[in-house]
Amino acid sequence: MGLQDDVARVLITEDELQTRVAELGWAINEVYNDDDRPLLVCVLKGAFIFLADLTRHLAMRHEVDFMEVSSYGAGTESTGVVRILLDLEQSIEGRHVLIVEDIVDSGRTLAYMARNLQTRGPASLRICALLSKPARREVDVELDWVGFEVPNEFVVGYGLDYAEEYRSLPFIGVLKEEVYAKSG
Ligand code: IMP
Ligand code: MG
Repeated sequence: MGLQDDVARVLITEDELQTRVAELGWAINEVYNDDDRPLLVCVLKGAFIFLADLTRHLAMRHEVDFMEVSSYGAGTESTGVVRILLDLEQSIEGRHVLIVEDIVDSGRTLAYMARNLQTRGPASLRICALLSKPARREVDVELDWVGFEVPNEFVVGYGLDYAEEYRSLPFIGVLKEEVYAKSG
């Protein structure tokens, strides 16, 4: 009945996530200060939980904004097409921008976002990704901070979905084969 019944394996536990997110926050605190007033750009929807936890470990004054891009349909494979579904509310010209992303797979989404945001003239542009799947990389993107490297498997939880579900799981896990087979 519950979501948890669809989980085959936990890859990263809730404790491991929380510990690592705090460490990422401390690392980011080394780089920015109050005067920088960095703007955290949360890539919707997957990064919303990561952003919520990360922002509470940041010591400097900062703001958040949201952007949604599409690179996937409801399935698990990238279409290679990136489209802006929701753009930032504000100009980032002269701002210190930190992109907060859930997972880097092929790298297409972030490569597109970084290129796009760079044309808007930010003072600096950095990337913090919770997860990275290096085995799947097709486009090279420079990541300033990465939480965990994960194997080449489709993962869910802590904001990441499969067909819009499983975002609320407090850990990162892999679903049972039959779940992907059903609607993928
Ligand atoms: P990329 O453009 O191939 O790097 O794909 C990045 C986007 O695809 C991420 O922002 C996620 O939203 C989604 N994605 C890639 N791999 C996974 C996964 O294993 N689970 C859930 N979403 C994923
Ligand atoms: Mg995403």
